Amino acid sequence: MKVFIAGGTSGIGAALANLYLAKGYLVAICGRDLQKTVIENGNLTKYEVDVLNVEMLQLYVLDFVQQEPLDLFINTTGSYADDVARKIRYNESIDMLQINILGTINCFEIARKVMRKHNQGHIVTIASVSGTLHYPKASLYSKSKRAVIQIADAYRKALEPFGITVTTIAPGYVDTQKLRDLNQQNLSKKPYLVSQEEAAIYIADAIVKKKELYVFPWKMKVLMKFLSYFPARFLDIMMYKKAKWMKND
Ligand SMILES: NC(=O)c1ccc[n+]([C@@H]2O[C@H](COP(=O)([O-])OP(=O)(O)OC[C@H]3O[C@@H](n4cnc5c(N)ncnc54)[C@H](OP(=O)(O)O)[C@@H]3O)[C@@H](O)[C@H]2O)c1
Repeated sequence: MKVFIAGGTSGIGAALANLYLAKGYLVAICGRDLQKTVIENGNLTKYEVDVLNVEMLQLYVLDFVQQEPLDLFINTTGSYADDVARKIRYNESIDMLQINILGTINCFEIARKVMRKHNQGHIVTIASVSGTLHYPKASLYSKSKRAVIQIADAYRKALEPFGITVTTIAPGYVDTQKLRDLNQQNLSKKPYLVSQEEAAIYIADAIVKKKELYVFPWKMKVLMKFLSYFPARFLDIMMYKKAKWMKND
């Protein structure tokens, strides 16, 4: 099995790389800074590349597959910032739009071209549980992840006739260094937090089961379903207050 993980240098992507390496799969990871990577394994190939550099990313994916089928392409790249209380900076907004939306499309485009040669493969993209809930004043992060869910839906529809599967993963809070850094190392106010190793197990299971949209953990999924029955105006107020409470603002 050949697995390419865009963004496997840390967090959820790195946990997935470890999980697939333990199964004996051939795994490639990429990120903008390979020095972050601590994984050392003979079955691991590392590429330093930005997903916004579509030409280089494609070259590296082709270098990894070497004319063989690519079984799995997982895009875990993503940009999230301290967006919750609507104090996000311009550069952070642009990063979020580019990496979360443009980067997602770049990954889909490269993976579908490579997989179409053999008419097989599975493309997985990481959205967020926050993207599953619609309300007008949701954060830019939630809006961009909602876009990811829609983009994946369109690719699923287009690629299904050609034997290519698409899975969207919508995680709740996952205990990664990035999430910790954004919360002054304190995740005590994050409900239903799961470790990155648990997240990797949930995601790998959803991939085996070829889920279309997989939300985890289940308590977060139930909470989102419950919240979806509330009027949008109520959600606007409630989510804003929750964000300020989480930030002690
Ligand atoms: N942690 C959570 O609670 C949570 C919840 C819901 C959804 N998510 C989503 O899950 C994904 C992973 O999150 P995480 O917490 O594991 O974050 P993370 O540790 O920062 O992982 C992100 C990975 O993507 C890479 N990356 C980011 N931008 C890139 C770019 N432009 N080109 C190439 N690689 C890039 C990073 O490496 P470099 O910095 O070296 O490029 C890193 O390897 C994100 O999409 C996030 O939105 C996370």
